[in-house]
Formats: sequence, C-alpha cells, structure tokens
Amino acid sequence: MSDTKKTATLSIGDKTLELPIHTPTAGPDVIDIRRLYADGGVFTYDPGFTSTAACESTITFIDGDKGELLHRGYPIDQLAGKSHFLEVCYLLLYGELPSAAQLEDFESRVTNHTMLHEQMQYFFRGFRRDAHPMATMVGVVGAMSAFYHDSTDIADPWQREVASIRLIAKMPTIAAWAYKYSIGQPFVYPRNDLDYASNFLRMCFAVPAEDYEVNPILSRAMDRIFTLHADHEQNASTSTVRLASSSGANPFACIAAGIACLWGPAHGGANQACLEMLREIGTVDRIPEFIERAKDKNDPFRLMGFGHRVYKNFDPRAKVMKQSADEVLELLGVENNPTLQVAKELEAAALADPYFAEKKLFPNVDFYSGIILEAMGFPTEMFTPIFALSRTVGWISQWKEQISDPGLKIGRPRQLYTGETLRDYVNVEDR
Ligand code: ACO
Repeated sequence: MSDTKKTATLSIGDKTLELPIHTPTAGPDVIDIRRLYADGGVFTYDPGFTSTAACESTITFIDGDKGELLHRGYPIDQLAGKSHFLEVCYLLLYGELPSAAQLEDFESRVTNHTMLHEQMQYFFRGFRRDAHPMATMVGVVGAMSAFYHDSTDIADPWQREVASIRLIAKMPTIAAWAYKYSIGQPFVYPRNDLDYASNFLRMCFAVPAEDYEVNPILSRAMDRIFTLHADHEQNASTSTVRLASSSGANPFACIAAGIACLWGPAHGGANQACLEMLREIGTVDRIPEFIERAKDKNDPFRLMGFGHRVYKNFDPRAKVMKQSADEVLELLGVENNPTLQVAKELEAAALADPYFAEKKLFPNVDFYSGIILEAMGFPTEMFTPIFALSRTVGWISQWKEQISDPGLKIGRPRQLYTGETLRDYVNVEDR
C-alpha cells in the first residue's frame, strides 16, 4: 500500500484524529479509517459502499468520469480489438500479458479441464426442466466442491491454481449444459480442438443428429462478449466473492455466491431485462412513452441498460458492444432487426433528454449485448449465464489476490443500529 505524508483531520467532540491518506496509482486518494473505532469510538456509515474502498487491488481500474476501463493498465477497447479472451484471462490472473509459450501452455491447461465429472450429469438432471439456467449454475458450481475435493484447500497455492483453471475451463460446459437441459436436448461434450468461444457455441447449438459448423465471425463476436465482461473491479458480485472468501470458504462456494449475486436485475440480470424492455417497447413510436415513464418518480420503471454506479460517461464496453451488434446483425442479414432499431432510437432519445444528461445516465454494457446474443440464437434466459461464465475469471483473479494477502481479515461490516434497546422478555399470556 502506498503511503504518503498526507493526513486527514477528523474532530469528534473533543478528540482530534489524524487519519493517514493513501495515494493510489490512479483514482482518488483514500483515507485510512482502520483505527477509527479503536481511537475514536465511532463507525462510518456508507450503505451501498458509495465512498468506501473495501480492499487494495492491482487488477482493474475504472475512471467513471472519463469512461475508462483498464485491466492491469491495458484499455478495454485495445484488449477487445487486439487480444482474445484466454489471453485476457492470463493477464487478469497473472498480471502481465503472456509470452507465446506461456499463452500456449495456459490455453492447453484450460483446454484439458473442459470436461465435467461424468457424475455431475445426474446433478443437472435433478433440476426441473423449466429452471432458470442461472439457478442451475448456482447449484452446479456450488456442488463442484463435492466433486473436486483435491482443489479446495485454499492454503495450498497449487490447489488454488488448479481450482482457478478448472473454473475457467468448466464454466462454458456448465452454462451450455444448463441450457441444453432446459430445452430437453442431450448434453454436448466439449471438443478440445476448438477455441474457447467456438467450443461454447458448439456445446450450446450442436445436436448429435447433425454436425455443427462454427461461424468464425460469430465465434469472434462471442469471444469479444466474454472479453468485455471479464472483470469490472469491486462490483456487487465481485465484492460478494471477496466477502465469501474472507471466511476461508472454498473457491467453488465463493464463485457460486458470485453467480447468485450477479443474477439480480440491477446487476448481471440487466441484459435479460433490457432485451425484454426493448421487445415490450416494440416500435419506435412508443419510445417517448417509455422515456416519460423512466423519468416519472412515481413509476418504478427504469431504462434497463442505462446508468451505472461508477460510469458517469459512456461505458467503454457499450461502445465496442454497439459496433459488434452492427457487425453481427449485418453478417446474419438482419440489419433491419426491429429490436436494434428501437435500441438505437431509444439511446438517441435518452441521450438528448436533459433528465438523463443531468443524472449522467449513459448506456451500459448490457444495452446492446442482448441484441447480439439474441441474433446468435440465445434465448434471453441465457444472457446472464453467459455474463457469469465471462466474469468467472474476474472473480477468480480477485479471489486469488485476496487470499494471497497475508493480512487478510474476515469481512465484517458494522451497522447503524436503530432498533429497540434492552428490554425484558414478557410471557405470552401477559402480552
Ligand atoms: N432509468 C431512469 N432513471 C435512472 C436510471 C435508469 N436506468 N438509473 C438511475 N436513474 C436515476 C435514479 O432514479 C436516481 O434519480 P434521483 O437522484 O432523482 O433519485 C438517479 O438516477 C441515481 O440512481 P441510483 O439508483 O441512486 O444510482 P445507483 O448508482 O445506485 O444505481 C444502477 C446504478 C443500479 C445501475 C441504476 O442506474 C439502474 O438501476 N440501471 C438500470 C439497470 C441496469 O442497467 N443495470 C446494469 C448495470 S451494469 C452491470 O451490472 C453490468
């Protein structure tokens, strides 16, 4: 942690505390309040963590005002344009871009872990067919700790490494099988001669009765979607993974917790909610009605795919996603897709509206991702599982960083208690 000579002075009654200030390599200074309760006898109050740094990290940096996202210093648009998902996985996990030999070795390690324990099939089969694939994923990933006992000892660096590779390698198989099960089709086994994205597409769309040719442009678009979602600093699901892991929980349990958190519509579930909203709007003439609803304080409706806790400018991932949507839809010959037309007009109408400008609400990554995924043939229920499989590497990188810290403490927030004070129990006949 970088220390400076700067301090912040805090007066509480007749006490004055000098709080150290840390200067990060990028982003605002951070006031260190770790001794606040011990020295000042008070807590801080910050529900939603809008002003609280919960950890020190070297993985991902976001400048929300500029609309900048860096992984280990590299901008997301360069990674999405020039790199590919497994290389970005390596970068997130180990801190540097790999040499050609390191990349080959990493790809081979991931590729050799893509199969699931055969018995896990029965686990899938225990779910109802109409279960949401996210529900199945939470269960199956949590159950991995019952199948892979040899990689649950977090004190052993080798086991941590194996668990990381297993999770990255098996998540596409798990997501694809959750989908196959939900539509009543047989599970398709991974093929290790295919790249990561092509293998996932094949496991989702191939059937034993016919061979499946992966379209390289769709595979590239899939890979880019994975890359754009790979990590995003201390968001809700990542913080959930970190909090779960602070107790020493095994990696599979921690990632299952992250998947559960990601499912919410304010987080990873927004891509499904966004496409459903665009379909509900249906035609461009209904856009003004929905813009008015989004602005109405008495209406709970919000423009899904708009707004972000950190970005107060364009989400840089949304820009790449929009370009990808145009490319994929053109390739598939559906440039005149009505949902895309509604999305583009809605974006333009919202950006021109003072309400959205004043509140700094811009399209986020989810605004266009659903359109691409739908054009590729994915049902809306698969959007969030695809987000979960992409984000797995981010969760694991943050988990590894946290448990490698010798000063790790269990996460245990305090509270502003406003309930009853001490009172005596009253027997039921006297109440
Ligand atoms: N539509 C209309 N108004 C909005 C929207 C929206 N999408 N988002 C925020 N606002 C308004 C709020 O009503 C609030 O107005 P007020 O100050 O008058 O009360 C103001 O903007 C600030 O909103 P908050 O909810 O306080 O901002 P917060 O940072 O807590 O929420 C969030 C961020 C959850 C992403 C929010 O913008 C939202 O609900 N967006 C829609 C869901 C979505 O797209 N989520 C995906 C996020 S990206 C991701 O997880 C990958």
